[in-house]
Amino acid sequence: MAGRVSETTPVPTPEGWRAVDAYLTDLLVGHDEALAHAVRDQRSAGLPPIEVAPVSAKLLHLLVRIAGARRILEIGTLGGYSTIWLARALPAGGRVTTCEAEPRNAAVARRSIDRAGVGDRVEIRQGRAADVLPTLEGPYDLVFIDADKESNALYLDWAARLGRPGTVIVVDNVVRAGRIVDPTATGSQVEGVRRGLELLAADPRFDATALQTLDAKGWDGFAIAVVTDADTVAVPEAPLH
Ligand code: DHB
Ligand code: MG
Repeated sequence: MAGRVSETTPVPTPEGWRAVDAYLTDLLVGHDEALAHAVRDQRSAGLPPIEVAPVSAKLLHLLVRIAGARRILEIGTLGGYSTIWLARALPAGGRVTTCEAEPRNAAVARRSIDRAGVGDRVEIRQGRAADVLPTLEGPYDLVFIDADKESNALYLDWAARLGRPGTVIVVDNVVRAGRIVDPTATGSQVEGVRRGLELLAADPRFDATALQTLDAKGWDGFAIAVVTDADTVAVPEAPLH
């Protein structure tokens, strides 16, 4: 019955979901010095505090292991926090290729990734992803998209081209505190997120869902998709970015 849940279920408050997030993080994710150091260095270098929350980073890590991924593509390195989590999930011989537009971010990430002991399995490609992606060679087994939201549809198209049937795609920040369904929310970022979700829905190369998240970073969400064996491509109504 519509309405029943809201009558009987408390509405989450920031204090409530932060307490739950801290409980789950302490219990199931844990803390370690290399990751804490990566976050501290990112903060002191003035990078924005927008790395994924620990519980969400652990989800990415588990998806790599569940998929048996050996070749990972990350679009948007920032300070390397998620990169370290992805790299730690790889089997011997596995590799993460991560694209970062901002040279300062790439330098911070390089140090943190090396300090975490996974430097030998991470290649940072510094440059705009739109320029780097055409130079890469697939197939990648898992693609994590977490860069400029304006280009999500472009990055999804590349994820399909550089993937294979079965490739797992994860897109960060698809809910944006509910702004995706707020008709008054305009702006290039939220519009880019909507175009990406619409491409996931319309393009037969993808089968997708999305989950809302309430974690240390607030109310947001992940889209999760698999690349199908379709060989047709949706022609988007709007430009890819
Ligand atoms: C922003 C970007 C992110 O990737 C994120 O996880 C949170 C916020 C942003 O650009 O505002
Ligand atoms: Mg993000």
